[in-house]
Amino acid sequence: MKALVLAGGAGTRLRPITYTSAKQLVPVANKPILFYGLEQLRDAGITDVVIVVGDTHAEIEAAVGDGTALGIDVAYVRQDQPLGLAHALLTAEAALGDDDLVMFLGDNLIEGGITEVVRRFTTDRPAAQLLLKQVDDPTRFGVAVLDADGAVQRLVEKPPEPPSDLALVGVYLFTPAIFDAARAITPSWRGELEITDAIQQLVDEGHRVTASTVDGWWLDTGKKDELLEANRTVLAGLTRRIDGEVDAGSDVVGDVVIEAGASLINSSVRGPAVIGANTVLDEVHVGPFTSIADDCHLERCELEYSVVMEGCHIRDVPRLEGSLLGREVSVSRTQRRPAAHRLLLGDHSQVEIAGGA
Ligand code: DAU
Repeated sequence: MKALVLAGGAGTRLRPITYTSAKQLVPVANKPILFYGLEQLRDAGITDVVIVVGDTHAEIEAAVGDGTALGIDVAYVRQDQPLGLAHALLTAEAALGDDDLVMFLGDNLIEGGITEVVRRFTTDRPAAQLLLKQVDDPTRFGVAVLDADGAVQRLVEKPPEPPSDLALVGVYLFTPAIFDAARAITPSWRGELEITDAIQQLVDEGHRVTASTVDGWWLDTGKKDELLEANRTVLAGLTRRIDGEVDAGSDVVGDVVIEAGASLINSSVRGPAVIGANTVLDEVHVGPFTSIADDCHLERCELEYSVVMEGCHIRDVPRLEGSLLGREVSVSRTQRRPAAHRLLLGDHSQVEIAGGA
């Protein structure tokens, strides 16, 4: 069995972060989202991995390399334009050969791994096996309708009037029958070759398509608030580990990871939280559900429920909350006159300035 991991696409909903980097590499608990999926594939015994990449190919390839560090063997396939999940699948057909496959969307996070679903597929071997999860807003996903026996009857991509609240989670198991099905469909209203339509094609041709429901959490990390929530959920499972330096004036409470080379000076961290390698906190308070990546420098500030990516500098900022800071961002307070907020923001940035004067 091989894996097909989709890491192309545009990532428009996480702008401006995704102007400069792939959405699959945005960190959750200081680890790129994509790595969680790759590790789960490896843990399910699937080490032969084809990754579909698009415009951000250089960055993905630099992060994952040949996969050795993650215990997998990676080959890359370039998709020139993000023309849909079924298009990505067809683009990778030659690299996949005629093995069964797990297709894993590189921006999905699933609790507990896929070992059990892979085992079930290998034993049962339907043409397609899907994972579903009940969601509050099915209009944002592919949606499945099951018959009385639990077999998949109908699938619709992002329906304005959803026929069910069972969303398709981004992990699909297929026999090679999926390739002919993907060739038989035409682009959807949004101009994409939808994997949802290809699976519907399998159903229409009389192939067996089964589904099971995900019990644990499933996180779609498309937008800022979803990403912060994903970060919160993953950090909730953290185990305390202090490899960095904590001085006598600092205290670290609860499940906190402080990576080697990080240093805390007169600072406090309340877990769950993770502080990256070589990051310095000087008179800083870090509250729960916060991830600060490597090589950051924070002085005299407080932050909570936030994700800070590598190389950021934050100085004299009384309180940051619910924030997502991209790489090498600088936020500071100044005594310069006239007193004013001075901003240099990329396209689609969002700033909320606290009320008061
Ligand atoms: O997250 C689950 C949902 O994923 C499912 O419920 C939907 O049925 C499915 O269509 C998909 O919907 P999205 O609109 O959220 O997919 P997105 O465009 O975000 O792409 C998912 C991943 O695949 C992402 O890592 C980017 C990559 N991709 C996407 C396209 C369109 C490619 O590699 N190539 C592509 O052409």
